[in-house]
Amino acid sequence: MDSVPSYLTPTLPWDQFALDDLATLTHKAHQPKFFKEEFVTEAGESETPAPFAKLKPAFKEKPTTTFTFIDLFAGIGGFRVAGQHVMGSCVFTSEWDKYARRAYFMNFGQVPFGDITQFTKSAEALNRIPPHDVLCGGFPCQAFSISGKQEGFKDPRGTLFFEIYKIAKHHRPKVLFLENVKNFARHDNGNTFRTIRHHLEKKMAEETNGEVSYRVSHAVLNASDFGASTKRERIYLVAVRSDLADDEFKWSEWLDLFGKLNKRKNIKPRYLHEDIQPNAEIDKGLLNKLTLKRDDFEYGKRNLPEATKPLRIGIMGKGGQGERIYSTNGHAITFSAYGGGAASKTGAYYVDGRVRKLTPTECARAMGFHGMNVNTGDVPLLQRYKQFGNSVVVNVVEAIFAEIKRHWLPDPKRR
Ligand SMILES: C[S@@+](CC[C@H](N)C(=O)[O-])C[C@H]1O[C@@H](n2cnc3c(N)ncnc32)[C@H](O)[C@@H]1O
Repeated sequence: MDSVPSYLTPTLPWDQFALDDLATLTHKAHQPKFFKEEFVTEAGESETPAPFAKLKPAFKEKPTTTFTFIDLFAGIGGFRVAGQHVMGSCVFTSEWDKYARRAYFMNFGQVPFGDITQFTKSAEALNRIPPHDVLCGGFPCQAFSISGKQEGFKDPRGTLFFEIYKIAKHHRPKVLFLENVKNFARHDNGNTFRTIRHHLEKKMAEETNGEVSYRVSHAVLNASDFGASTKRERIYLVAVRSDLADDEFKWSEWLDLFGKLNKRKNIKPRYLHEDIQPNAEIDKGLLNKLTLKRDDFEYGKRNLPEATKPLRIGIMGKGGQGERIYSTNGHAITFSAYGGGAASKTGAYYVDGRVRKLTPTECARAMGFHGMNVNTGDVPLLQRYKQFGNSVVVNVVEAIFAEIKRHWLPDPKRR
């Protein structure tokens, strides 16, 4: 009998605990002390539910930290891994998707709080978010339209930027570090982006009697240029509080240059074959249906020279989305949360003499989440793929974070 792959094996009795209770419990301490003995009630009893106590988070905060950040729309925590790498301490996190919250817990020992709008309703609610130096968020980008309205975003899902705005106005972090889809700046003929800029640069100043506003910079960067083995072009917005921003310093030019420089030097390119699990456990039902005979694709092309971009070597069916086959000598395609086709969400690759999708571990590595805990059925496989399709690439976020720290958070004593 075939054994069940470990990434499909449930490990925790989630249904016995409310996620919001776990969020409160795991946020109680500044750092996740969930796994330490000192996390006890006033009566001295351990508060950690026994089954959870056995887990060890994959990504730990550094013993010494020099700045604080919050992780909004956290997904699986790409900003958090990067922030922790550069000596940041995450003091609050929010994400409402049940499976993303589980995945986050298994990697950071903290369950994110749920709906962020519950934390922005009033000054009192906003005070439940601790003060922080950097506000991070890859905010949702669907239906981000303002057509027909001057300053409003029509679809409620598009209004989530305003949650960021409210938190920033209340807490005044030094830097806002945001991420979105590549063509975000062109969305709705640029109106969406203009509205965001207008709010951070002008409206916030008006609403705070000139006390606080931000300078907004942005650039589109590709993860392939930052030592990741997957292509992912995304827009990064860095907004610096105006009282800190130096007139001489053109952050946006720098951000552009940074992308270009990284492309040319410094960062060692990585290829997908370095992130492949040889003889990986493959779920037969889901992945083996992709096994093709050698004639089904351009077999001779499978050993193309290494390149930092996806290398297509053949197709299945009509070659539509999820039907294209790539060489592991190149990069993975941009993972997608919603894509269909036989090799939906990851694309198909020629590995170990057959064609298959990537495993969750391979997706994690390709996106810079080395050492991530993905092997559990607590998060169903399709949800895992969806999470990677929504996520930032750690390498890029970390590179920008390191520069944010260098320029705007140099001395912890200044906080
Ligand atoms: C584009 S993804 C960001 C993923 C994240 N940057 C990462 O690295 O994994 C947006 C996330 O926002 C979450 N989200 C949407 N609305 C939310 C809300 N009102 N409160 C909390 N999370 C929300 C979604 O569930 C989704 O995971």
